[in-house]
Amino acid sequence: MSRIVVTGGAGRLGRSLVAGLAGAGHEIVSIDRAASDAAELDGIHQVALDLTDADATTRALTDLAPDALIHLAAIAVPFSAPEDVILRTNAALAVSVLGGAVAAGIPKVVAASSPTVLGYNCPTGWVPERFPLDEDTVPRPWNAYALSKHLIEQTVRMYARQTGDTVRFASFRPCYVIAPEEWAGAPTQQGHTVQQRLDDPALSAPAVFNYVDARDVAAFCDRLLAALPEIPNAETFFVGADDALAREPLATLVPRFHPGTDEVAAVLTGTTPAFSNAKAGRLLGWAPAHHWRGELAAAAAASALSDHGAAPLAADVHPDRKHIPA
Ligand SMILES: NC(=O)c1ccc[n+]([C@@H]2O[C@H](COP(=O)([O-])OP(=O)(O)OC[C@H]3O[C@@H](n4cnc5c(N)ncnc54)[C@H](O)[C@@H]3O)[C@@H](O)[C@H]2O)c1
Repeated sequence: MSRIVVTGGAGRLGRSLVAGLAGAGHEIVSIDRAASDAAELDGIHQVALDLTDADATTRALTDLAPDALIHLAAIAVPFSAPEDVILRTNAALAVSVLGGAVAAGIPKVVAASSPTVLGYNCPTGWVPERFPLDEDTVPRPWNAYALSKHLIEQTVRMYARQTGDTVRFASFRPCYVIAPEEWAGAPTQQGHTVQQRLDDPALSAPAVFNYVDARDVAAFCDRLLAALPEIPNAETFFVGADDALAREPLATLVPRFHPGTDEVAAVLTGTTPAFSNAKAGRLLGWAPAHHWRGELAAAAAASALSDHGAAPLAADVHPDRKHIPA
């Protein structure tokens, strides 16, 4: 068991991550702007703090003296605030939290980046050198959010250069995160349901049809923290599902929404996703346990059973569910 600080633990991904890591036996402290009454944070130690205050952040992290820190706190949606505010806030958070973690002597530090660093949806066009996209694909951020995520990856590397191997760092790029309740119809981050994203490919096209179950992100972080001393320092990982959030092959869908990609997208046959999760498999032995077809079938079965007055057992509705409890 480790003591892990999660910044932004009250957020969409934070709630599932906190619940997953606590379920895996870790002691979790969530630091967020305000305490949350979300069910996933029941029994979790919460600290209310504006993490852009670098001195207060260093003091809090020094007092908590955790074994590891996972930094999620950010303005998490592109164009959800003025560009200067997004860049300033996320950059300030990167330096105050990661710098505070180094000053506090935390030996393992992980930061959330985003696949958007690659630059898809650029108004002047985007054709990647190849698919599937992976950690070697050249980042081409075109807005303040994507730039701030590129910056956090570079901040991780900057502190790794400063500290050598005394602090073990990594960053990860979670694909479009789907929390457990969202399989059953709760709205996802962009406001639509998973079904709506599948029924209208235009909704999922801006994320190039990527997604990941939040419980798989928790399992990934657990694996990553355990592996940090053994893998190269300051690595970046994509964290995505094994398939695309789409009913048609991406070889057809991607060129429809990202003009000029016909040739490079031709390899995306069957259910192949646009983003490779192979590096996390190779270096960490991680693989996602959840996929949309299984989750939607499980949610439909659970709903049918409860319509008939019987409470479903998790094992009845999803026998292959095997990772950290939600
Ligand atoms: N959800 C996704 O699909 C997704 C995909 C890729 C990357 N990410 C990244 O994962 C992280 C978490 O995303 P999310 O969807 O949970 O976002 P979210 O907006 O739901 O949560 C972010 C949390 O950070 C907190 N926060 C922001 N500024 C703060 C400050 N100054 N001090 C303290 N707390 C502060 C907020 O209160 C919030 O609880 C972000 O870094 C985001 O960029 C998320």
